[in-house]
Amino acid sequence: MPILNILRYPDPRLRRVAEPVTEVDGRVRTLLDSMAETMYRAPGIGLAAIQVDTPLRVIVVDVSDHRNNLLAFINPRIVEYEGMQVMEEGCLSVPGIFEPVERSRRILVRALDRDGQEFEREAEGLLAVCIAHEIDHLDGKVFVDYLSRLKQNRIRKKLEKQDKLAM
Ligand code: NI
Repeated sequence: MPILNILRYPDPRLRRVAEPVTEVDGRVRTLLDSMAETMYRAPGIGLAAIQVDTPLRVIVVDVSDHRNNLLAFINPRIVEYEGMQVMEEGCLSVPGIFEPVERSRRILVRALDRDGQEFEREAEGLLAVCIAHEIDHLDGKVFVDYLSRLKQNRIRKKLEKQDKLAM
């Protein structure tokens, strides 16, 4: 599977709202496989299709210590929220930046799996944070949106400077 190029903040393509998958076919499964490989290689614990310039509602997540518990969600929706937690977050599209964000402590997610079957998954702690973070991407949101304007501007400048140096 090819390693996909990950868009970097503040790329405007990260702001698109992803479209639902209408049919879970071979193309979607190939996308999932390429996304998983790209996430593991990065390395990261979650990736949304929009981050690899594919505006479909598809995410992959693996928060396990041994990197052997891949979860794939197609058209995911959070149907229950409970509690609050603050965790330091990062993002493969915002390399080198880690900031605390407040999110639900427990969520219930409904989605399709890679065979197109609907399933529900309860998540707490880091997994809940990671899934909510990736679903945000599908709505054109990046975790830095939760930070102060001042911090957002600093992060944007820092990444734009890095991108210029890399050219
Ligand atoms: Ni992210």
